[in-house]
Amino acid sequence: MSPVVVLVGPPGAGKTTVALELAERWGVDFRDTDQDIEKAKGVTIQELFVDHGEPHFRELEEKAVAAALSEHDGVLAVGGGAVMSERTRALLADHRVLFLDVGLAAGVQRAGVNGNRPLLLGNIRGRMKILMDQRRPLYEEVATYTILTDALDASAVADRAAQLI
Ligand code: S3P
Repeated sequence: MSPVVVLVGPPGAGKTTVALELAERWGVDFRDTDQDIEKAKGVTIQELFVDHGEPHFRELEEKAVAAALSEHDGVLAVGGGAVMSERTRALLADHRVLFLDVGLAAGVQRAGVNGNRPLLLGNIRGRMKILMDQRRPLYEEVATYTILTDALDASAVADRAAQLI
């Protein structure tokens, strides 16, 4: 089994919203690895970070992504940091991957709405800039397609994605 498409990109790029929209249009299932982890552990991502630290979360994330890639045949969204794992990037090389790109200003604005992002607590703009600069080459490495989402709402991004894929 293989997902129709896997959505990657920084927090605030709209991965979950666009994945839901695409799944609905195509009549396929939607899956999100952050939600898989929260369900399996019975706690929020925020709680996992606070109680067990980021390295533990990354281990869980690597396993959750590997499981979803082999089990899911719909649209899959993975957490913004999933591409930091070399193993995950190697797995993604065998899949159709859509990189939802977002500039700093739009990313900060959108990500600020969701409080479940422990890595962005505090100086959200500064943290987001570091995170985007570090990860951009990794998103680009795994991307089959890229859409810059800054000026687009979720429906317009889904329109473009549906043309590409
Ligand atoms: C993270 C992004 C989050 C979530 C966790 C870590 C990251 O997912 O996995 O807070 O490292 O960028 P979203 O990209 O869906 O916000």
